[in-house]
Amino acid sequence: MVTSVLPRVESLASSGIQSIPKEYIRPQEELTSIGNVFEEEKKEEGPQVPTIDLTEIESEDKEVRERCRQELKKAAMDWGVMHLVNHGISEELMDRVRKVGQKFFELPVEEKEKYANDQSSGNVQGYGSKLANNASGQLEWEDYFFHLIFPEDKRDLSIWPKIPSEYTEVTSEYARQLRGLASKILSALSICLGLEEGRLEKEVGGVEELLLQLKINYYPKCPQPELALGVEAHTDISALTFILHNMVPGLQLFYQGKWVTAKCVPNSIIMHIGDTIEILSNGKFKSILHRGLVNKEKVRISWAVFCEPPKDKIILKPLPETVSETEPPLFPPRTFAQHIEHKLFRKTQDNLSN
Ligand code: OGA
Ligand code: NI
Repeated sequence: MVTSVLPRVESLASSGIQSIPKEYIRPQEELTSIGNVFEEEKKEEGPQVPTIDLTEIESEDKEVRERCRQELKKAAMDWGVMHLVNHGISEELMDRVRKVGQKFFELPVEEKEKYANDQSSGNVQGYGSKLANNASGQLEWEDYFFHLIFPEDKRDLSIWPKIPSEYTEVTSEYARQLRGLASKILSALSICLGLEEGRLEKEVGGVEELLLQLKINYYPKCPQPELALGVEAHTDISALTFILHNMVPGLQLFYQGKWVTAKCVPNSIIMHIGDTIEILSNGKFKSILHRGLVNKEKVRISWAVFCEPPKDKIILKPLPETVSETEPPLFPPRTFAQHIEHKLFRKTQDNLSN
């Protein structure tokens, strides 16, 4: 088999090229919607990604708690993405997570290559860049580091970055705290659907089986940002996704037929409802289409943690309580693995018909 060795995007970016290779150029139809992300972020008119204050999510006062849940519910139903503030994870810990990830990416590419994943043999964990998965050969302007961070007994610490030396400790602590936050959110969302508190958590695998996968997205400066995307339009397949970033804008959400640029909200964690919860809730909670822009001036880094059900153990389908005569099931039963397959297949079909 012939495999072409593509340079890392970081190497391309630092080589001084003034124009990007054609594989990174988006199709004509898409180019019209790509603007300057700094200009886009400044825009105040039009819909904005909601901010949800979680201070009262576990208040002793029933009414206060209920009010907070209603805000979360509204955002989950309308947008499926939000800035969480007062989420309980300290600013200090978030800063340390950002620092260790940034330090790793500051290593020379040759150092990082020691952690390279090997997608062709199924080793998805490690340092990587997107491989073209269709005939168009389309690529994205990013490199990444991907690994499982929770539950602890499923981690493979041997592939985690060894430099900086605090990487493992800091990332482990963040994983533990995010797992707690995921439980809180799943409880609240369960109650919002009229389910028992622990139901969604159980339906996505519980403490033993829900997997937290960290993807550090590294988006180098791009000489022609109006022609490329850091990450192409997609919905997350996860149950929930939690995102930290380095305060450089880039994330856009497709809301009511338009791309809305997320503002950078200090100390917030962006949370997405993913396809898994969309399916379980029979579409009441939305998994929103989103993408990432790049820019000429600043490297952008984001830390996305995907909370995923096990691949084959659970059949995902709308929970009976979310289905009625007037609300028929919108999704056929599928395992998580089948859902991934289905999405890949649809994508291939799209490309064939283009
Ligand atoms: C993702 C993603 C957006 C970002 O990794 O799935 O949508 O802000 N990332 O980097
Ligand atoms: Ni995403």
